[in-house]
Amino acid sequence: MDDLPLRLDDLESLARAAMDPRAFDYYLGGAEDEHTLAGNREALDRIRFRGRVLVDVTSIDLGVELLGTRLPSPVCIAPTAFQRLAHPGGEEATAAAAATVGHLMVASTLATTRFEEVAASGGPTWLQLYVFRDRGLSEALVQRAEAAGATALCLTVDTPVQGKRERDVRNGFALPPHLRMANFDGGVGDGLGVRPGDSALAAFIHEQFDPSVDWSDVAWLRSITRLPLVLKGVTHPEDARRAVDEGIDGLVVSNHGGRQLDGALATIDALPDVVAAVQGRIPVLLDGGVRRGRHVAAALCLGAAAVLVGRPVLYGLAAAGRDGVRHVLDTLDDELSRTMALLGATRVSELGPDLVAPRRGGW
Ligand code: FNR
Ligand code: LAC
Repeated sequence: MDDLPLRLDDLESLARAAMDPRAFDYYLGGAEDEHTLAGNREALDRIRFRGRVLVDVTSIDLGVELLGTRLPSPVCIAPTAFQRLAHPGGEEATAAAAATVGHLMVASTLATTRFEEVAASGGPTWLQLYVFRDRGLSEALVQRAEAAGATALCLTVDTPVQGKRERDVRNGFALPPHLRMANFDGGVGDGLGVRPGDSALAAFIHEQFDPSVDWSDVAWLRSITRLPLVLKGVTHPEDARRAVDEGIDGLVVSNHGGRQLDGALATIDALPDVVAAVQGRIPVLLDGGVRRGRHVAAALCLGAAAVLVGRPVLYGLAAAGRDGVRHVLDTLDDELSRTMALLGATRVSELGPDLVAPRRGGW
């Protein structure tokens, strides 16, 4: 791993060189003018800390407890589709890297590897879900996730329709013929072949995802599983309050990495109101733009229980397979550990809003 870059940002060019340009654009891109894609990162970079000094920081503990599972680090892997576009090892390689130390991996429904094979890594694994027009597809996935040992389900709620991803439309994004959506049998899994003049994923989402999805579907999902249920893509405090009332077990403050609503608030700016709304009753995670340990620390200071990382994991996978993903996780953990030492925090529970400089107008 000596040849992998110190800065995770520098993985992007390695991934670009290793990948088909249309697949790389799919990974990199966001919706419309990509303001929210850039904004997630910019907002994290604007955070300024005021650390404590004269604290013995010989030993730093990154461990957290999340929905009853002890994790060695608050750095988790976001659900991202089609990982075999990055590397032949695909989701299995990512899962193997995550399981080395026990980082949580959230596997996408739209994976190019069956969930059972991802969960076989033995590390803590959640399955991310969408609500399909055919509820039977969603229900079958829930049952398979339970049987395969998923520790939670993560319903993505920011995608009733797809954001307008113009790179993919322009490129005619499709899966190459040797890849399929492995979680589906029969025709559904092959639904990402070339659609002239369109993104095959946009067409697939339009055909298969149910745009009428509402809280009654959340209640339905809640009723068919005993696994903890997490909603991903919440940014409004009223939705956060409602989720608690509906018996939801956790939230991910996310704008889908800027791939859905362009103009959506940066996630670190949305986090404090969501945290205030849930009042500690359920854990709140954050994703979007996390590229440095200090970004993780900022999210934890402002009330996140953990963070998910999307593109850097894909870029690490493209650059060096399982070792590349390991490098991403190790780098973030190492940077977080150093940031905590410099903030005078020896445990994650010591990271609070007092360590972040107050912004004019407050959080
Ligand atoms: C995603 N994301 C995503 N989310 C989800 O719930 N299901 C999915 O299948 C996918 N697929 C997907 C593919 C690719 C290529 C990307 C980049 C993202 C969103 C993902 O879980 C997460 O919210 C963002 O990636 C976080 O932002 P960063 O870390 O990529 O900036
Ligand atoms: C994406 C979908 C698959 O972001 O969630 O590409």
